[in-house]
Amino acid sequence: MSDSVVLGPAKIGDAPGIANMSRLLIEPGLPWRWTPRRVAAHMRERENLVVVARDDRTLVGFAMAQFNAESVHLTLIGVAADRKRGGIGRRLIAWVEESAVIAGVFRINLEVRAGNQEARSFYARLGYKETGRAPGYYSGVEDAIKVTRDLRVTSQA
Ligand SMILES: CC(C)(COP(=O)(O)OP(=O)(O)OC[C@H]1O[C@@H](n2cnc3c(N)ncnc32)[C@H](O)[C@@H]1OP(=O)(O)O)[C@@H](O)C(=O)NCCC(=O)NCCS
Repeated sequence: MSDSVVLGPAKIGDAPGIANMSRLLIEPGLPWRWTPRRVAAHMRERENLVVVARDDRTLVGFAMAQFNAESVHLTLIGVAADRKRGGIGRRLIAWVEESAVIAGVFRINLEVRAGNQEARSFYARLGYKETGRAPGYYSGVEDAIKVTRDLRVTSQA
């Protein structure tokens, strides 16, 4: 369960931990793009939101999103391997969605690796729809599935 898990805005000191989680959970088999330096640079841009989930002081999840005028791009989301299926991912995405609604933006877009069935099931459960495929999107190694959610449509989740 995620009862003892607290969500909040990331601090710059979280960048190495987030980058490591991205490398291990999201980018295996691909060149490591979300290095600590890049995550920190992303955090410093005002249009980006980075939220972390902590259990005591341990980082157990994170989400990164970029806010544009018409849509929010969910850049990355990850939950520590030993904490999956405890509702942390659902809480992280809810934070991003609530922030989007407050900002007056009602469309969330993202890409997911075609072979990542776990994440595709997660997004589907939360009311996200698959809209297309981008061949070779991930460094020519793997296709991306394009996924979207209109926040004005109530999710069944
Ligand atoms: C995708 C991910 C973020 C989901 O986080 P999580 O905390 O495990 O998800 P939750 O516990 O909030 O799950 C919410 C619902 O999504 C669905 N779901 C989650 N993982 C699933 C899986 N492996 N298979 C099928 N359904 C799944 C379930 O319906 C779940 O509800 P339930 O447990 O009550 O049945 C997590 O699996 C993860 O970090 N994966 C590796 C990184 C990754 O792939 N990130 C996404 C691409 S950027």
